[in-house]
Amino acid sequence: MFEFLSERARDILQCTFGVSVSSVEWVYADREGFGDCSTSIALQIAKKLNLKPTEIAKKLAEQLRGLPGVERIEVAGVGYVNIWLTPEALLTELRITEKACVPEPVRKKEGPVIIDYSQPNIAKPLGVHHILSTVIGQCLCNLHRHLGYTVVGWNYIGDWGTQFGKLAMAWEKWGKSKPVERYTLDELLELYVRFHAEVEKNPALEDEARAAFLKLEQGDRHLRLFWEGVRSVTKTSLATIYERLHVHFDTDIGESFYEDKMQPILEEGKKKHVFVKGEGGALVVLFEEEEKLPPFLVQKADGATLYATRDLAQIRYRVDTFHPQAILYVVDVAQQLYFQQLFAAVKRLDWKLPQLEHVVFGRMRFAEKSMSTRKGTVLKLEHVLDEAVERAKEVIAEHRDSIQTDDEGALEEMMGTGALVYGILSQNRRMDLIFDWRKVLALEGNSAPYLQYTHARARSVLRKANTKVDALPKDAKAFTASERVLVGVLLGFPEVLQEACAHRMPHILANYLYRLCQAFNAFYNVEPILKASEPLRSLRLSLTSLVATVLKTGAELLTLRVPERM
Ligand code: ARG
Repeated sequence: MFEFLSERARDILQCTFGVSVSSVEWVYADREGFGDCSTSIALQIAKKLNLKPTEIAKKLAEQLRGLPGVERIEVAGVGYVNIWLTPEALLTELRITEKACVPEPVRKKEGPVIIDYSQPNIAKPLGVHHILSTVIGQCLCNLHRHLGYTVVGWNYIGDWGTQFGKLAMAWEKWGKSKPVERYTLDELLELYVRFHAEVEKNPALEDEARAAFLKLEQGDRHLRLFWEGVRSVTKTSLATIYERLHVHFDTDIGESFYEDKMQPILEEGKKKHVFVKGEGGALVVLFEEEEKLPPFLVQKADGATLYATRDLAQIRYRVDTFHPQAILYVVDVAQQLYFQQLFAAVKRLDWKLPQLEHVVFGRMRFAEKSMSTRKGTVLKLEHVLDEAVERAKEVIAEHRDSIQTDDEGALEEMMGTGALVYGILSQNRRMDLIFDWRKVLALEGNSAPYLQYTHARARSVLRKANTKVDALPKDAKAFTASERVLVGVLLGFPEVLQEACAHRMPHILANYLYRLCQAFNAFYNVEPILKASEPLRSLRLSLTSLVATVLKTGAELLTLRVPERM
């Protein structure tokens, strides 16, 4: 229908005003009184035509009027054209929303989108801040897959660097009595902390640690085994948390993998005069003045490689191995300059590159002081997840009379972790996030519990209906006001998925789901569903069913789970 309206509108503009526009966009209006869809094309072309937008809009409206599927048409405000569709046309449109709930077939012809996210450093427990990259990245993987992209979800773990020299040395000195596999992450962290305490007293340890890392780099068997042990302890512990968050990776190739892949890149860069000698013999990339970027260090004066060197080698490897169409780096704003330099540097190497994009996000702070990081120690993600579930338990206890469930434990878990995750994903990722437990756990408002509750409510209606809910009917009498708003919101779903994916903005989807919950609850509060007479009952049940499906689909794309009952 919208394509049809677009085409017609283009023809009209062509015939009446002699302008050709590439497309006429219709946006779904999800408020009462603004029609089902509206276009601002008149405003867009008014200048070029030297006409008043309302004049163009009026002409357009006149000629669109009477088209099949169009019930009413109005020119509004400064020159919008608002259209009300016939119930029949709306129901046809809704089928597109229905389809959008099913993943699109995979488009194999284009290369995959590589999404680099989570990226913890090993030998340390996940801190609460890790959740941002983890859930934003997973949501972007889910969205891309749903829309038919192939995706390589990549946990680029930090498993290399001088800190392993320190850790290995600390273990040799103070911890060897226990095999490394039996260590917990907390105990490994303690070893690391102890190293730093002892170094204060005995600075020579620093050299020993450096020597240990050098030995590790040279492939010392003993140290290598230790390092493997640390990796596996870390991975086991991470797995539990990722499971709780519904996070899955396709690969976790980490920094260590690029150890033997950096030298050729350094050589190439030197040969191409992209990497030049900087201070004291280090290798750097120097940028043009207008690029406004400081020099980019790719090799230290002592020959050591860096994080940046590995990222360069990694781009080469990813391009050669996967032929991706894009690589997205979901990393916090602290590395913004770094990625600008990295992308600018790699462009000069003149490789055939995919789209490289830093998907940036802000910092997270807790509204309650007591939750902020205690001095020196990071707030562990595992503890925050547990706390979320504890708090969900309290909310459930408080609302004992209105919440019912057949699996309290499962509900607490999905509500607690869901609240935490939704609290993050419903905010524009570019902004710093002030995290407020009360807000994210509220049963009303833009929160996971509200979404979960609304889903359960829709499912409960469908259970009580006790009849098979058929697909959408072909036609209906005039919609009531609240039905129309609900239908309008439902129509927006396919576009919202596209937009959230294209802008890499999970909050576009989250906020949409919130609007849908509001529209459904408003509808639920005023229209009888089960008690309505046919064919109204069937129509309302099928709308309810579509709401439940869209909510579940959307929630799962956000990595949440929704209950059948609540
Ligand atoms: N592990 C890194 C850190 O903690 C983040 C890695 C981001 N990804 C990348 N390809 N550089 O800072």
